[in-house]
Amino acid sequence: MSTPTEVGGRERLGRVVPDAIAALHEVLRRHNVTEDEWYAVLEYLTAVGKADEFVLLSDVTRTSVLIDAMSHNADGDATASDVEGPLYRADPPWREAPVKLYEDYEGAEDGEVLFVRGRVTSTDGTPLPDAVIDIWQTGPSGGYDIWDDRQPEMNFRGKIIAAEDGGYRIQTMLPKPYTVPTDGPTGRYLEAVGQHPWRPAHIHFKVTAPGRQTLVTQVFFPDDPYLENDTIGAVKPALVRPVEPEGDHLVCPFDIVLRPAA
Ligand code: BEZ
Ligand code: FE
Repeated sequence: MSTPTEVGGRERLGRVVPDAIAALHEVLRRHNVTEDEWYAVLEYLTAVGKADEFVLLSDVTRTSVLIDAMSHNADGDATASDVEGPLYRADPPWREAPVKLYEDYEGAEDGEVLFVRGRVTSTDGTPLPDAVIDIWQTGPSGGYDIWDDRQPEMNFRGKIIAAEDGGYRIQTMLPKPYTVPTDGPTGRYLEAVGQHPWRPAHIHFKVTAPGRQTLVTQVFFPDDPYLENDTIGAVKPALVRPVEPEGDHLVCPFDIVLRPAA
């Protein structure tokens, strides 16, 4: 893990931190925050750290969405970026073609098989056959593998390499809306501010290719009840993709366009 000094440098830290402290002091003064209240805040933040929930708290306060918007140019032809969230696991298994992202499990019987397919290209249209697509999502029941004893390790997670023409095709299942974890300090925050914990169904992607900027994004599906009120506010209209029936399964086309590295 990098420290803020390593990432931004001492000079930048020297400019941002005093402003952050001044803003905090202004809020404490404006609301006349008491000693007891301030110690409760410190205790709460300690609990957030102990529960390893700072990323989750950043997400539900929509701070992650703000940082994403400031970090990635929304113009142009590249695929829009989105928040990574706290459920990414490094080193998922490599999946070979024909790619199936899951093993069947008890509880997934009513799930709908979905093929996500498309091409990975650069903004100039060049296919990117060396692109690595890392995908993670919830199953049709039980959520992520790490929350669900019925699912094998790394179910609905995997890395694949795009074909010669940049093409890819993944067999998965249509995910469902789910709630972010509510059993820790972030759940107490959500309850205190009266914010629901639901996210619309989505699939996460992290795509890398030599000489291109890494893209972290999510794909959403039409008609989801939480598209308009995702608890982390991460839905972008450009990332809502159609889902069409084809034979006995569903298909979601998703072409991925990467920017040249800066
Ligand atoms: C997720 O989509 O995996 C996620 C994002 C933010 C908070 C919790 C979960
Ligand atoms: Fe997710």
